[in-house]
Amino acid sequence: MNAVLKVTDLHVYFDTSAGTVRANNGVSLQVREGESLGIMGESGCGKTVLFLSLLHLQQPGRIVRGSVVLDGRDITHLRESEMERLRGRVIALVPQNQATALNPAYIIRQQLTEALKIRHSGGSLHSLAGRQNTGSQSAESEFRRVFEDLGFEAGPVLDRLLRSYPHQLSGGMRQRVLIAMALLMKPRLLIADEPTTALDRAIKAQSLNTLQRLRGSLTMLVISHDVEAISAACDRVAIMYGGRVVESGACPEVLSQPHHPYTRLLLAAQRRRRGEPLQAVAAETLNLIDFPCGCPFHPACPEAMPVCAIETPPERCTDGAMVACHRFTGEAR
Ligand SMILES: Nc1ncnc2c1ncn2[C@@H]1O[C@H](COP(=O)(O)OP(=O)(O)OP(=O)(O)O)[C@@H](O)[C@H]1O
Ligand SMILES: [Mg+2]
Repeated sequence: MNAVLKVTDLHVYFDTSAGTVRANNGVSLQVREGESLGIMGESGCGKTVLFLSLLHLQQPGRIVRGSVVLDGRDITHLRESEMERLRGRVIALVPQNQATALNPAYIIRQQLTEALKIRHSGGSLHSLAGRQNTGSQSAESEFRRVFEDLGFEAGPVLDRLLRSYPHQLSGGMRQRVLIAMALLMKPRLLIADEPTTALDRAIKAQSLNTLQRLRGSLTMLVISHDVEAISAACDRVAIMYGGRVVESGACPEVLSQPHHPYTRLLLAAQRRRRGEPLQAVAAETLNLIDFPCGCPFHPACPEAMPVCAIETPPERCTDGAMVACHRFTGEAR
């Protein structure tokens, strides 16, 4: 299967008065055609910086090393004018904050119509606000098709939804509108940032259902701290710690039989605090300015060996899985 997205050894740094923050410190991952990859890790491990860097929106952070290749094309240092054409259309983002991501002054139909116009005209998403809607038969049928994919039959409920202002909708509905907007662009890659965060139990169930429906029909990168969301939406998962992927593989295997000591602690912490954002699993959060030598997790690792304080563990691959841990000898799960 072809890789739609290939990230290799990506380093993204922020210069601060306290020193250089190494937010991404050698991220490597691939998302293959039609596959959904989940990214999991505790707060501050570099998930948001990673997807912002794919879109060249990581400023004031700098990409200091590594590459981002989309459909075989290196986009790491693409000009801004070319990135504007990719953003939204080729790489679409479903942002985390559904409450503020829609324009409060326009009904949903107008906002979807704008998305369609952008797809057809080649404009940028910055022009979304403040234009007038025209509307057409073909646009209406596209809206219906997209909402059908999300589990909405054409009828009075959908008509009412299209006529609503964002504040008249529930959080779950607004999120589905954002997904619909992204799908209208027919993107090569859809990035969903924390799709179930800040949703209550019933709405989260709807959201999981939507993600499940999308799985397999398009190529997705799903960023979440929520095991339930990752299991529902993803085929594979990459676990990040200290700005790097420390383990990756097929979802059921990684989530039920993790190899990396960090993944085991992370999943145990998740079980203890169901649904809340993942805080540091270790007593102290990792200082991204003064990285420890060797494996960045070794000061907190219950299974650390002397070598862990000296050498950075290599990314060892076996059977489509990867583990960056000196303890891992390559055995299959
Ligand atoms: N503008 C900035 N200046 C300095 N440091 C930054 C900046 N933006 C992000 N960072 C740092 O980069 C690291 C990674 O941040 P990032 O937002 O990617 O974490 P995250 O994994 O998305 O966390 P969360 O789960 O809380 O959303 C953090 O230590 C953060 O403080
Ligand atoms: Mg984040």
